[in-house]
Amino acid sequence: MKKSLCSLLTFSFFLNETQIRQAFSRYGNAVKCKLTTRNYYYNAHVQFSNTSSITQFDDIWVIICLSNSLCICPASYSKTQRDIRREHVAIFAGIPKNIKEADLLKIALHVNAKAINIPLSYNSYKPKPYAYLNFSSFESLKAAKELTIAFRNKGLSWHSPNEAKNLCHVYG
Ligand SMILES: *[C@@H]1O[C@H](CO)[C@@H](O)[C@H](O)[C@H]1NC(C)=O
Ligand SMILES: *[C@@H]1O[C@H](CO)[C@@H](O)[C@H](O)[C@H]1NC(C)=O
Repeated sequence: MKKSLCSLLTFSFFLNETQIRQAFSRYGNAVKCKLTTRNYYYNAHVQFSNTSSITQFDDIWVIICLSNSLCICPASYSKTQRDIRREHVAIFAGIPKNIKEADLLKIALHVNAKAINIPLSYNSYKPKPYAYLNFSSFESLKAAKELTIAFRNKGLSWHSPNEAKNLCHVYG
């Protein structure tokens, strides 16, 4: 019986084990949380007392902890299952400075994204002016890109992930 849930936490250096465990407690009895670092990322292993708490993360790809999003992947997942969560990704550019993922959740829901993540700059730890959105299928990604989206009265633009490098110069 596997009880652990692996969650890759992008740049969540402001979070400690207690804060993460509390965020997961909304989804069941999270009994344990262990943090490790990997390059610029934190990795957390969260354990639930009841395995059935973990099945809900087949559908939930991200949870919010103190306005930051934590990307989730059940520890029992195969590489193929993990890769599916990274396959259909788009970028939203033009978001104002110092925005956290929680501020963009409504938009993520509206475009039917499964996860949202604002990367931080390696040097300054400041949020970049764009967000990654992950979709469950190519169809939902395509449908999303056809939508015109504004945030705080400013139009956002869609890009593909390989355009990320240029976006820093345009919006940074
Ligand atoms: C585990 O959770 C499921 C679903 O919420 C519940 O039906 C079951 O009774 C729980 N099992 C234990 C041992 O708490
Ligand atoms: C979304 O895709 C990005 C880029 O491929 C990946 O780094 C991230 O882990 C994915 N998010 C989730 C929730 O799996």
